[in-house]
Amino acid sequence: MYWEKELEVLDRKNLEKLQVERLMKTLRQAVNSSYYGRIPEISKAIKSGINSIDQIRELPFTTKENLRNDFPWGFLSTDKREVVRLHSSSGTTGNPTVVYHNRHDLDSWANLMARSLYAAGVRDTDVFQNMAGYGLFTGGLGFQYGVEKLGCLSIPAGAGNSLRQIKLMRDYGTTVAHAIPSYLGRLFDVFKEEGLDPRKDTKLHTLVIGAEPHTEEHRRRIEEMFGVKAYNSFGLSEMNGPGVAFECTEQNGLHIWEDAYVVEIIDPITLQPVADGEIGELVMTTLDRVAMPVIRYRTRDLTRFLPGECKCGRTHRRIDRIAGRSDDMFIMKGCNVFPMQIEGVLMKLPEVGDDYRILLETIDDQDEMIVEVEVKKDWFKGDLSFLDKLQKHLIHLIRDEVLVRPMIKLVEPGSIPKTEGKAVRVFDRRKK
Ligand code: COA
Ligand code: AMP
Ligand code: ZN
Repeated sequence: MYWEKELEVLDRKNLEKLQVERLMKTLRQAVNSSYYGRIPEISKAIKSGINSIDQIRELPFTTKENLRNDFPWGFLSTDKREVVRLHSSSGTTGNPTVVYHNRHDLDSWANLMARSLYAAGVRDTDVFQNMAGYGLFTGGLGFQYGVEKLGCLSIPAGAGNSLRQIKLMRDYGTTVAHAIPSYLGRLFDVFKEEGLDPRKDTKLHTLVIGAEPHTEEHRRRIEEMFGVKAYNSFGLSEMNGPGVAFECTEQNGLHIWEDAYVVEIIDPITLQPVADGEIGELVMTTLDRVAMPVIRYRTRDLTRFLPGECKCGRTHRRIDRIAGRSDDMFIMKGCNVFPMQIEGVLMKLPEVGDDYRILLETIDDQDEMIVEVEVKKDWFKGDLSFLDKLQKHLIHLIRDEVLVRPMIKLVEPGSIPKTEGKAVRVFDRRKK
C-alpha cells in the first residue's frame, strides 16, 4: 500500500515536528553557502531556533534571479568534492540555473520518485519506459533512478523517435511509460500510421504524465487513446525535478511530499499566504538536501491546496493541477522557454526589426513554435536569397538557445498586428 509507510501516513502533528527539525538542519547547512551566509535572517533563525513551521515566514524568499546572480557556486553548501551531479537549465544569453547534488541528495530524490510511482500503482513487476529527455533534463535521470529503486525493468528510451518508442514498447512488453502530455497525441498518430492500436497492441496499463500544464480533459483523452490510467507528476529542477508532487491512484490532486519540502501558497502580489483553498503561487523549501538547500523558493507555479483527506490514507496535503504561472515562461515540447530568451537572440541581429511575436500552435497533433520576425525594409530589396539564409540562421540560433526547433516566418516591417498597451508577444493557440 505504501512505499515508506512511517512517513507517508504520519499524523500532521508529528509531520510538522519532523519539518521543524529538518528545517533547522537545513538552515545550518544552507548557511555554509556564500549566498545564504549573507542573509541575516538565516543566521538569526539558527541562533534563536524555530518552534513552529509557520515561523518559516520570517525568512526571505529565494527567486530564480537570486540563483542566476550567484551562478555558478553561490548556493553550494558543501565542499565541491562532495558533489556528484548537477542539473542545469539552458540559457546561453543569461546565466543558467544550476542545482548540485551529493550522494545523499540523489538517494533521497530516488526514494521520493520510487514513493511517488508506488503511490500511482507502479510495482517492481512493471516494465517502465521513460520517454523524457536524458542529459540535463531532470525527467530523464530523475525517473531512471526512482524506477530502478522501485525495481521495475527500466527502458531509458529518452525523448523522440516515435517508431523506436513503439518498437521498444512491443519488444519488451512495456506496462508503464512516462511522457509529456503534448507528445502523446503525436505518438498515438504514429501508432495509427503503423496500423497499430496501443489499446490492443501494447501491454500499457499506466502512463505518467507531467512536466507541462494540461487539463483534466486532456488527461481523460490520453487515458482513452491508450487504454490506461494516466497520473499527473509535478516537479521542478530547483526542488530536484520529478518526485515533488504526484497523484495517487485516487487521481484526486497531487500529494506534495511534506517530509521533504515545506510548502506554502502565497499571493504573488502581496506575498502573504492565501486563504486555504485559494489559488496562489507555490513556494517551497527543501528539507532533505545537503549540497544545495533552497529556502522559500518562488516557483511561479499557480495552484491551491485541496481540502479534505485523501482516501488512500496519505497525510501529505494535495495540490491541484497547475493552473498557470505568475511569470511569462511557457513550456514547449517539455522545454521551458522565456520569451526574453528569443528576444535576446533576435535583437543581436542587425537585420531584425523591432517587432516579433511567438505563436504556439498544434499542427498535425504536434505542438509547434512559430516565430514571426520583422526584417528591416532594406533587406527586402534586391537579392532575396539572403532571407533564406537568415531564416536558417535564426532556426539554428533559437534552437541552440531554447532546445526546440522553431518555425520562422520573416515579415516586412509593420505587418505584425499591434496589441493595445503592453506588447503581447506570446499567443498560445495549442490544443490542450
Ligand atoms: N517528448 C518526446 N518526444 C518528443 C517530444 C517530447 N516532448 N516532442 C517532440 N518529440 C519527438 C517528435 O515526435 C519527433 O519524433 P518522431 O518524428 O519520430 O515522431 C522527435 O521528437 C523530434 O521532434 P521535432 O519536433 O523535430 O524536434 P525539436 O528539434 O523541436 O526538439 C525534442 C524536440 C524532443 C528533442 C526536445 O523537445 C526534447 O528534448 N524534449 C524533451 C523534453 C523533456 O523530456 N523534458 C522533461 C523535463 S522533466
Ligand atoms: P524544470 O525545472 O525544467 O523541470 O521545469 C519545471 C516547471 O515545469 C515547473 O515549474 C512547472 O511550471 C512545469 N511543470 C512540471 N510538472 C508539471 C505538471 N505536472 N503540470 C504542470 N506544469 C508542470
Ligand atoms: Zn491519496
